[in-house]
Amino acid sequence: MVRLDKYLADAGIGTRSEVKNYIKHKWITVDGMVAQKPEQKIDPGKAHICFQGEHVVYEEFSYFLFHKPSGCVTARSDSREKTVMDFFAEEKAKGLSPVGRLDKDTEGLLLITNDGARNHRLMSPSHHVPKTYYAILDQPIPEDAVERFHAGVDIGDEKPTLPARLENLPEEFPFDSAFSGENGRAHARLTITEGRYHQVKRMFAAIGCEVLYLKRLSMGPLELGDLRRGEYRRLTDEELRLLQQI
Ligand code: URA
Repeated sequence: MVRLDKYLADAGIGTRSEVKNYIKHKWITVDGMVAQKPEQKIDPGKAHICFQGEHVVYEEFSYFLFHKPSGCVTARSDSREKTVMDFFAEEKAKGLSPVGRLDKDTEGLLLITNDGARNHRLMSPSHHVPKTYYAILDQPIPEDAVERFHAGVDIGDEKPTLPARLENLPEEFPFDSAFSGENGRAHARLTITEGRYHQVKRMFAAIGCEVLYLKRLSMGPLELGDLRRGEYRRLTDEELRLLQQI
């Protein structure tokens, strides 16, 4: 049994003080009866709770797929810079955090959740979750790059990178990229299974290419698809099911 105000706040209806106000305004019903007080105890598995007539679906954890734009940092808060969490102002009182990080100038798929254990698991080096990036480079890609990336490259760490799959794309990938530079000379898709600091940029630097634009297209079973830059959506049941398998 949990307190009604805690249940509503955990379900993302509002902060604890906001939901107390909603109860006061008689906007909450429990099994068809107007809720009387925030400390009322309810059984989350049985009670039918409505907020202004809408059924409140309680999720223990929330998972959002976010299309990170460039220009914001992957952090929960920052005193100077705009953060990815600033886009989640409406998802109050949920304790959300980004899973892993994208550089300030990188765009693309970022998973945001308050499921700490899953976050940890997805980031664990032993799980090798594949992440696919689209990159625009300043130089043509050397001919042997596919093999070199497959074999693992020295990026200045103790160990070379794990095998990665590089696809040299013949022409610009057909999606709305924020890149407007004239000097892009090559386009590539790269799938890595680690998450080292600046890994993609350092891998391309190791073969003499500078990354001018970088976008993450997928992570494990999750794909960015046509989600617009700066927008987010909840994961589908199928995506959640696939994520549970990692
Ligand atoms: N690799 C990078 O170099 N930057 C990112 O943001 C993600 C992967």
